[in-house]
Amino acid sequence: MAYDASALPDVSGLIVGIIGGTGDQGRGLAYRFARAGQRVLIGSRSAERAVQSAEEIAALPGVPAGGVTGADNDEVARRSDVVIVAVPWDGHAATVKALAEPLAGKIVIDCVNPLGFDKQGPYALPVPEGSAAQQAAALLPDSRVCAAFNHVSAPLLADPEIDRIELDVLICTEERELVGVVSALAARIPGMRGIYAGRLRNAHQIEAFTANLIAINRRYKAHAGIRVTDV
Ligand SMILES: NC(=O)c1ccc[n+]([C@@H]2O[C@H](COP(=O)([O-])OP(=O)(O)OC[C@H]3O[C@@H](n4cnc5c(N)ncnc54)[C@H](OP(=O)(O)O)[C@@H]3O)[C@@H](O)[C@H]2O)c1
Repeated sequence: MAYDASALPDVSGLIVGIIGGTGDQGRGLAYRFARAGQRVLIGSRSAERAVQSAEEIAALPGVPAGGVTGADNDEVARRSDVVIVAVPWDGHAATVKALAEPLAGKIVIDCVNPLGFDKQGPYALPVPEGSAAQQAAALLPDSRVCAAFNHVSAPLLADPEIDRIELDVLICTEERELVGVVSALAARIPGMRGIYAGRLRNAHQIEAFTANLIAINRRYKAHAGIRVTDV
């Protein structure tokens, strides 16, 4: 089966919420989706911080009026169709667990990379459940959890001068339908494709590979991404 952007579902009506949306990754994704015309809700532990971040993103070039608003994480989880978890690994389990009820029935995209940093650089942390995405799936039994957007560089997302971001978003999920939805969301950002990369048990390598990408970025002063060949 070839990758076929024309066969992707229409996701333009879905509301995308971002838990931890005031951070670099959340703000970057929010900007790109809003710029593509998607309704975006920025989430935070503080509604005030969320509103402030949303106002800043709304003022960036290309964002339609009313495209981005902010609220606390709980309200964002309730009001969104698709929810991206973009908090630091330290706060992942507690944040996800606390949102289990409002996230029931929702598509949850986990982009969290459990990484450590020491004098030798970045490295992957062991996760008892296997990966951050599997931890989320265990804590959210009534949600539709997948891993995606782990390798997308926040500085590229945030730069209004950059029109295209040439990379593939690797998607791990148990549900075939989610591959279509998440690929369609990725395709809202010019240059991106969503590519199925296995079941959730394979999310660990994708999360861990971010340590390699950060090492590459430091060595070559780049914002490296992944492009899958022959697909
Ligand atoms: N930065 C990147 O280029 C990049 C790329 C791919 C994936 N990621 C992944 O995306 C996630 C977020 O990265 P980031 O760079 O945006 O991180 P960040 O800026 O450090 O944190 C994101 C937001 O999470 C909230 N937060 C902080 N500590 C928390 C805690 N203990 N519990 C709950 N919420 C907390 C904060 O929002 P409030 O204080 O407003 O609640 C913060 O603004 C990470 O897991 C990272 O691995 C990052």
